[in-house]
Amino acid sequence: MAKTNIAVLGAQWGDEGKGKIVDMLTPHFATVARYQGGHNAGHTVYVQGTKFVLHLIPSGILHPGVSCVIGNGVVIDPQALFKEVDELARMGVDVDGRLLVSEKAHVILPYHRELDVLSEARRGERRIGTTSRGIGPAYEDKIGRRGIRICDLLGDRDALAEEVRENVSARNRMILDSTLDWKPLFDQVVAFGERMRPWVADVSLHIAQTMKNGKHVLFEGAQATLLDIDHGTYPFVTSSNASVGGVCTGLGVPPKAIGGVLGVAKAYTTRVGEGPLPTELSGELADRLRESGQEYGASTGRPRRCGWYDAVVVRYSARINGLDGIALTKLDVLDGLPEIKLCTGYKTATGTITEFPADLRLLVGAEPIYETLPGWSAPTKGVTDFDQLPVEAQQYIRRLEDASGVACAIISTGSDRMETIVRKDSIVSGWLD
Ligand code: IMP
Repeated sequence: MAKTNIAVLGAQWGDEGKGKIVDMLTPHFATVARYQGGHNAGHTVYVQGTKFVLHLIPSGILHPGVSCVIGNGVVIDPQALFKEVDELARMGVDVDGRLLVSEKAHVILPYHRELDVLSEARRGERRIGTTSRGIGPAYEDKIGRRGIRICDLLGDRDALAEEVRENVSARNRMILDSTLDWKPLFDQVVAFGERMRPWVADVSLHIAQTMKNGKHVLFEGAQATLLDIDHGTYPFVTSSNASVGGVCTGLGVPPKAIGGVLGVAKAYTTRVGEGPLPTELSGELADRLRESGQEYGASTGRPRRCGWYDAVVVRYSARINGLDGIALTKLDVLDGLPEIKLCTGYKTATGTITEFPADLRLLVGAEPIYETLPGWSAPTKGVTDFDQLPVEAQQYIRRLEDASGVACAIISTGSDRMETIVRKDSIVSGWLD
């Protein structure tokens, strides 16, 4: 396939290592554009031993000369954005002139965070396990047509005052005994707008012009397909379309602009928060994966739940997103295990299923159907050529590809940019020409 615009997105429940993959592909693109989510995401990138954790700003920012877009589909907490910009500046990365923030993106206000925490507490046993960043409540206001957008912060002050006043009184009605004053919040959001003004842009136009000039765009997903509000394990999902459909709505680009889709999947599975994880492990094996994979949330520090690779999940993601290839990450975490399991279906109370179900009740008490493959003892860490992998690791990857229905175009064998295998003749090598 010739060079094209591509989407890079999560094929499992998030934390697949999208940050590293986006970072390594970025030099081949003029623009990296984030299309959904907010600072609930945590993309960790290591550059020559230095760790960068990005939440809102696309991982492409670490490459000088690449423009980085935050799309209208993203919800923006201005304080979180400023913190990230300041942190990048401290580490020698200047965003000015390269960061573009959609004027249509919605704003997360401090009370959205409060509402997030409150709504989780009210759900009790049925809580989602959110990141408490105010993401859900901000999207609720967007869909409820009372949200405040970035362009509102920069427009008519009287209209903004009215919007803030109305939102605050709606919030006060939701939280008993609450008497939040709208005026200090109004002053705060005006100041937010002023600091953001230089970055605010029509990002759809910027992307269209980039493409018209013969350059290419990488569309960066946050969270993942199984956390997608429509296609994920509802209600244990985030509040946006993390799968490929979000690219069009979250950036204002037409479907035909997306020439390729790369799904990022871990060589095993993890999830944070509540909800089903059919291949979940417990005890020593789970601890081992968690420790050697450093499976703790980049945003919240929460320990991640760990399990075997679930081919039902990735095959489902391949269908929803039209995956052209997989970037398989953290293969090295499996080094030294005597055997490795891979799930190809579930035994449920009503029979065996091999397609991911909509009704999560089917998964209660479901037993994964596993294939067991031999592990490998030689390290895969840092290997950059597929043929140099232990033969059992090659065998595992081939079986995983077969069961998932997609080829692994990239295999990550460590956290550094260089610790990567790009398969010869894979779809990705065409994109990188
Ligand atoms: P929210 O996005 O904070 O509303 O959280 C909803 C669900 O998505 C929870 O299960 C979170 O743990 C999960 N989630 C949100 N962002 C991420 C992420 O970046 N990685 C993994 N899980 C996430």
